[in-house]
Amino acid sequence: MSSGPIRHLYVHIPFCPKVCPYCSFYKEASDRNKTQGFLDAVLAELDLRQRSLELRPETIFFGGGTPSALSTAQLDYLLAGLRARLDLSQLREWTLEMNPATVSLEKASRLRQLGVNRISMGVQSWDEGLLQVLGRVHNGAQAQRSYAILREAGFDNVNLDLMFAVPTQTRDQWSASLEKTIALQPEHISAYCLTYEEDTAFFARFTKGEFTQDASWDADLFEDTMDRLSGAGYGQYEISNYAREGRDCLHNLAYWLGADYLGLGPSAFSTVGERRWQNVADTSAYTGKIQAGTHAEAFSESVPGDLRRSEQIAFALRTNRGVPREWLEPWSREVAEFERDGFFSGSQDRVYLTRRGKMVADTLAQTFVSAPEHAR
Ligand SMILES: C[S@@+](CC[C@H](N)C(=O)[O-])C[C@H]1O[C@@H](n2cnc3c(N)ncnc32)[C@H](O)[C@@H]1O
Ligand code: SF4
Repeated sequence: MSSGPIRHLYVHIPFCPKVCPYCSFYKEASDRNKTQGFLDAVLAELDLRQRSLELRPETIFFGGGTPSALSTAQLDYLLAGLRARLDLSQLREWTLEMNPATVSLEKASRLRQLGVNRISMGVQSWDEGLLQVLGRVHNGAQAQRSYAILREAGFDNVNLDLMFAVPTQTRDQWSASLEKTIALQPEHISAYCLTYEEDTAFFARFTKGEFTQDASWDADLFEDTMDRLSGAGYGQYEISNYAREGRDCLHNLAYWLGADYLGLGPSAFSTVGERRWQNVADTSAYTGKIQAGTHAEAFSESVPGDLRRSEQIAFALRTNRGVPREWLEPWSREVAEFERDGFFSGSQDRVYLTRRGKMVADTLAQTFVSAPEHAR
């Protein structure tokens, strides 16, 4: 399925100002002693990959962890190093994730100069009590100041992340967070339903019964989200992602629509043709391996064409692009059933999730990961 140069590059920055109790992304508290070695390792990994892969990025995404946990000088070093190594003539979107506690005008302005043109900032909530429940390192006022700084630095494409179904959160609190976010007029809003991820402090509290989950409550908040954001002119182009026209995140869309991508840094995934690998989720081990001149893959697997197609179906279904009907031909019986039951709607050549279908997207997608029922 791979053809031509790789168009999408991800860089994982594993540092955070403070580790949040619900989060399972690979990260660690910032450690000054490790940082320079890590930055050199990312650049060396890029050199290593470019010996065998051709890269011409249309999108770059710096995620984490918290890329903005790096200092301005460190970001300068890393981004300038990347610029010197890459053909950026086709670059359309360069996103960097920020935590509101790590934004300064100097940093934001330098990022803009270096070519970053999209910022994704984790606000989560505007409610002070809920920010504390979430163990966030910033308060609402700081998040608002940081947003203003991003605008002052010239960013005209900003995403704000929000979370719902947070313990103790009321429906009014969620509505208020949506309203406050809409009033700031970001170009993009990601609204995630809290998931209790294994190996997090929240998961431990959940298994003890301290926190509970209620699917119908989550569904109510999800419906409120869709109603309010679509009413305010944000198109829901993926289950958790809403954007003003023309502001969909091109990088994430590329993942969801099944493009090849290269990931650099600890824990980063890559998928190129029929091969997928993940780097070791350990910053010291990652840096050591790359410094020794070897790859830092923790595992690698073959993803045969039919499995990649199944994954493409599952992801594309979550988007407003839908899935070509011909891809679903082996499951035509199941598709007809989902249409009859109001989970799918369709045109002659494409199939989409209805609002009802979006509530149970993961369960529906499971159908297309295995052979159709009647063919087994
Ligand atoms: C890598 S973080 C974003 C940037 C930055 N690290 C921050 O937190 O401000 C990506 C986003 O994933 C979401 N997220 C993290 N853990 C989650 C969970 N357990 N359930 C739902 N959303 C989660 C949060 O909205 C978070 O902003
Ligand atoms: S939510 Fe963001 S800041 Fe918090 S631990 Fe996860 S990556 Fe770090």
